[in-house]
Amino acid sequence: MSMEIEFRNVDKSYGEKSVLKDFCLQVEKGEFLTIIGTSGCGKTTMLKMVNGLITPDAGEIFVMGKDISKEDQVMLRRNIGYAIQGGVLFPHMTVEQNISYVPNLLNKGDRKRTENAVEKWMGIVGLDDEILGRYPAELSGGQQQRVGIARALAASPELLLMDEPFGAVDEITKAQLQKELKEIYRKTGITVLFVTHDIAEALTLGTRVLVMDHGEIQQLATPEELLKNPATDYVARLVEKELH
Ligand SMILES: Nc1ncnc2c1ncn2[C@@H]1O[C@H](COP(=O)(O)OP(=O)(O)OP(=O)(O)O)[C@@H](O)[C@H]1O
Ligand SMILES: [Mg+2]
Repeated sequence: MSMEIEFRNVDKSYGEKSVLKDFCLQVEKGEFLTIIGTSGCGKTTMLKMVNGLITPDAGEIFVMGKDISKEDQVMLRRNIGYAIQGGVLFPHMTVEQNISYVPNLLNKGDRKRTENAVEKWMGIVGLDDEILGRYPAELSGGQQQRVGIARALAASPELLLMDEPFGAVDEITKAQLQKELKEIYRKTGITVLFVTHDIAEALTLGTRVLVMDHGEIQQLATPEELLKNPATDYVARLVEKELH
């Protein structure tokens, strides 16, 4: 097993407000890490540091063995799928253009390859081809989220960052998307970092769960360990209702 992501003593503040302090984390290749914690505790900040959208004030971040501060940021982001919190799509682009955006960059002139990728991922996230020509404003919230997930996956990333990707879908659709994502993970062996506010979701999807509060790691453990031996009161309260 090789290390896919490593945070070494990372600090991040916004003005006076410290969000992450001396933050350390190691994620191995092929792990599915779910991240849960109080609103505002720094989950999105941490995720955006992996693809260089936010830079740390101090410390180092290594992704796929490289110190990302020394990497070309555009190339870095092309290798990392990112499903943004709120599922923001490019509003002036159709569904097809949204999903094919990164594959187009990667496949250069090979349109057939891009078309195949779009078709494949539309199918996997359960979207009908008839919406390919529509703009995001012409889709339901759940459809927009699925397009966002397809767009993140269509680039065939080795690493996938997902920030509350299933936040705006109904329970049945959510269960279906969770199942699909598990299947994608099983088939591709990609590394996933997945932020959620849903402890049941964190426990069912994650090979390990990271619980954060106030920029500090409360516990980082397998779902079984988290349920059996909660490390802090915060974790105990979080998992309490999952025990019944
Ligand atoms: N650009 C910014 N400028 C100033 N403060 C910011 C900025 N971005 C985030 N913050 C603050 O930093 C803290 C961490 O934000 P972050 O978005 O990482 O939280 P989060 O854990 O993802 O929360 P949520 O669960 O609500 O999405 C919050 O208090 C937030 O208000
Ligand atoms: Mg967030």
